[in-house]
Amino acid sequence: MASFSDPVEEIRERIDLVDVVSQDVHLRKAGRNLVGLCPFHKETSPSFTVNPERQIWRCFGACQEGGDVFSYVMKRDNLTFREALELLARRAGVTIERTEQAVRAHSEKERLYWANAVACDFFRSALSASRKAQDYISRRGLTNSAIEKYKLGYAPDSWDALLQHLMRKQVTTAEAVKAGLIVPRESSQGFYDRFRDRLIFPIFDTSDRVIAFGGRTLGDDPAKYLNSPETPIFSKNRTLYGLNWARRAIGNEDRVIVVEGYMDAIAAQEAGFENTVATMGTALTEEHVNVLARFTNNAVLAFDADSAGMAAALRGSPFFERAGFNVRILSMPKGEDPDSLLRSGDRSLFASLIENAVPVVDYRVSLALSRHDLKTDEGKTAALKEATAVLAEVESAVERERIIRYLAKYHPNFGTGTALAEDHLRSEVARLRSRVSRSQKQWDSEAPAKSPQRLSLLEKSERLLLGIIIAQSVEPNKVFEALPPKEFTGDTTRGLAEALSTQFAELGKIDQEGLVTKLAGTPEGDLLTELVVAFDSSELNHPLEDVLSTIRREKLKLRHARMRALAQKFQEGVIKKGDEEFEEYWRLVRELKGTSAGRVMRDS
Ligand code: UTP
Ligand code: MN
Repeated sequence: MASFSDPVEEIRERIDLVDVVSQDVHLRKAGRNLVGLCPFHKETSPSFTVNPERQIWRCFGACQEGGDVFSYVMKRDNLTFREALELLARRAGVTIERTEQAVRAHSEKERLYWANAVACDFFRSALSASRKAQDYISRRGLTNSAIEKYKLGYAPDSWDALLQHLMRKQVTTAEAVKAGLIVPRESSQGFYDRFRDRLIFPIFDTSDRVIAFGGRTLGDDPAKYLNSPETPIFSKNRTLYGLNWARRAIGNEDRVIVVEGYMDAIAAQEAGFENTVATMGTALTEEHVNVLARFTNNAVLAFDADSAGMAAALRGSPFFERAGFNVRILSMPKGEDPDSLLRSGDRSLFASLIENAVPVVDYRVSLALSRHDLKTDEGKTAALKEATAVLAEVESAVERERIIRYLAKYHPNFGTGTALAEDHLRSEVARLRSRVSRSQKQWDSEAPAKSPQRLSLLEKSERLLLGIIIAQSVEPNKVFEALPPKEFTGDTTRGLAEALSTQFAELGKIDQEGLVTKLAGTPEGDLLTELVVAFDSSELNHPLEDVLSTIRREKLKLRHARMRALAQKFQEGVIKKGDEEFEEYWRLVRELKGTSAGRVMRDS
């Protein structure tokens, strides 16, 4: 073999473009080329082509781009040439002689990957040193080979064990904070480990780099799982846990099984359902779908029927349809999740649940029917009303027709003839659709691609407060004593606060799932499911007193502003003595005397 002096040539010699692309794209043979779905744009028929002989790639679809292994990795991971070179060199085992300048230019992202790799090793050796963590792992039925494969670890019950280790390995505190491994102390100087006394699940990207961690408490921490925060290398909405191990199987089977939890993904993969990934408790987002669409357009959701993730998936059905993504819903036996189901040893039950999964629209329709008593005419009418509302959201006429046929038997006119009942349903759906398409158009033009909501600090704080209650990080009564539900300023936040407080008064606890079911379809229900996934644990651990005082301060500011506005109106003669607003003005003057908007009014 020739001796290489040029690392670029050496890498070309050692790395096969096909292997690199196969990490992201399911490729199949087409003559002398391999083809698959382009990873750089959304498409449903494959136009991404790799030529193994010449080691080049090209997208004949929307991108019309192409190149070699370097340009592929640059584009895929958004890297400079130098970064791509280093990544591929590591993979090929090629050493690059670095100039001092190159070392300094070593990218921030690379440093974060390194920090995570160091932490991952640390957690793994801590696991082998902890009897307690090992006992927990074996109680949950995980084998040694699973521990190895998933690189499970343990974060010791210490405030700075990882911190100390990172420092020894030349990771700076700034880098460790940025990677989400340590957290700056709020009151004093210094830092502490984010993960303490937790079983650690490292989260990998499709290049098998550790990009984040999930940690399950082994103690009684109210946050059962804690995840790395969003970092330059980790976005929760885009990441699917387990995809690095699942991607080949997903392509081969042309189907992905989506579960909610880390343990669910591992249990399913270990039981032979290798095409399983987990959303890590969030909804299946548009970004997730874009990632998955590189491998398949068929998904089966094995979610808890009452979870926020399920509620979001049901709402997302029009989006899935537009994206050409076929989503089926699996009916999990009550109280089970894939992990518990498979742990009881019944592999074939899970397999048959998967085969019996139904399209998301069918699932929504049966849900609508199940909420009513179909033995009575009133029940049938109410059920059909709900079911036709679901149907109106379906784009495909063929699909609508299929379900209309199914629903006809519940129609009051069914007795006089199937055709008549179907016709009634058809025209009802058509009527609803003309409304849906109008509001849809409006929605599309007013809310361009997921622009984040603009919320005032007050609105944000009220939402965070509700998030804290929902996550059960604090006793709800502690919040409601300081801020009674009726004093929430937003209509929906107030409504949800009231629902939470009522439930807590009735049950003595918050039953999130029960509330999701109860509030389904209302603005409060939407807010609830949104809040369940909106905050990460570090936000939820925000001191309650800080959130409350922000709310008091912002409300005080609003009242000062209101008082000034009324004073202005009075001076302009718009309101006069005896008017309601005049009374309000004087009330505000009396109440706000001696306060300034910048100060917190304790007794407000
Ligand atoms: P679940 O609450 O369903 O837990 O959360 P689980 O996966 O069944 O956990 P085990 O079996 O008791 O260990 C599902 C997923 O939601 C995310 C995690 O990814 C979890 O696996 N989650 C849950 C969080 O991120 N934070 C939490 O506090 C809870
Ligand atoms: Mn579980």
